Amino acid sequence: EELTVIRKFEHIEHCLRRNVQAHVSNGFEDVHFVHTSLPEIDKDEVDLSVEFLGRRFDYPIFIAGMTGGTKGSQLAGRINKTLAKAAQELNIPMGVGSQRAMIRKPETWESYYVRDVAPDVFLVGNLGAPQFSETIPERYGIEEALKAVETIQADALAIHMNPLQESVQPEGDTQYRGVLNALAELKAEFPYPIIAKETGAGVSMEVAVRLESIGIDAIDVGGLGGTSWSGVEYYRAKDEMGRDLALRFWDWGIKTAISVAEVRYATDLPIIATGGMRDGITMAKALAMGATFAGVALPLLRPAVKGDVDGVIRILRRYIEEIRNAMFLVGARDVGELRKVPLVITGFTREWLEGRIGLSTYLRRR
Ligand code: FNR
Repeated sequence: EELTVIRKFEHIEHCLRRNVQAHVSNGFEDVHFVHTSLPEIDKDEVDLSVEFLGRRFDYPIFIAGMTGGTKGSQLAGRINKTLAKAAQELNIPMGVGSQRAMIRKPETWESYYVRDVAPDVFLVGNLGAPQFSETIPERYGIEEALKAVETIQADALAIHMNPLQESVQPEGDTQYRGVLNALAELKAEFPYPIIAKETGAGVSMEVAVRLESIGIDAIDVGGLGGTSWSGVEYYRAKDEMGRDLALRFWDWGIKTAISVAEVRYATDLPIIATGGMRDGITMAKALAMGATFAGVALPLLRPAVKGDVDGVIRILRRYIEEIRNAMFLVGARDVGELRKVPLVITGFTREWLEGRIGLSTYLRRR
């Protein structure tokens, strides 16, 4: 019982103290805008707002879920409330971390609760896909899903798919049999939107098509190139065998840029491009490739731990101004126009996509 709680605390510590990022890029260095010397718009008129699940947001940035339920609930509560204040101020959506601890220990609910400081924020709850597996006798169902959303007055539920992380940790939940079926049953009854999210290894088009077929509302690709959960588990490993396994899989997965292209090509689902998004030019590229949001986790952790709302907002405003500038320089008045500007795709990303999708078809209809 205590394990989940302590584990989350250790994760945050390692994320703050060590380099837990992938050793490879998220692929966006292979995606190029074509500079426009005559943008034919004023920079001031660039509109960064986006629509998502029936709501309008001022900026195309999503604060990805990180925490909740840690020891004494103090740390997690501070992180979530700090992120929520920033999200409220900027009118952007945010997620909380896995609510498994809350399902087990309902008294930790306050560490996920942010409505007191962020009454209007679009808030996304979070549960793990393996908990819905048919292999687990006490598997989650609609009851736990409703509890996750309603206890914290969230607007939607994220289901995280994290087989990589689970597979390289000693106490990992590697039961994934029957998850798709369980999510299909949940989706049929559940009154809130469901976002399927990866946590750093990316979503393939095959998985995206299956998720769309059962009615999942959006996909957060959580691609390779940012925080590596195998990296985090490497530092937590208890023995050499565990360390070796985690190290071997440190850079496993589908890069964020590639995952965005695959999911956009194969489905009509709204996309959140998370995984190594660290500047506004990269974010603008993700939007041009068909994402509705760029998602960010790790860079916001440090100011959030300190309760530094201004620090979180400062980082986000830098991204926003960089996105705005990139949009100006390609003559895109809004995110819709940004999706129509020419993109050049080179290198590894091009090779991958040429092998997997109709690249020119994708580029035309993204
Ligand atoms: C995460 N992430 C995460 N995701 C999830 O669905 N449930 C969770 O509980 C957590 N916990 C968590 C803790 C910390 C400290 C970090 C940094 C991240 C994953 C997160 O939402 C995101 O998908 C990845 O971190 C990739 O984004 P970045 O970090 O590269 O911007």
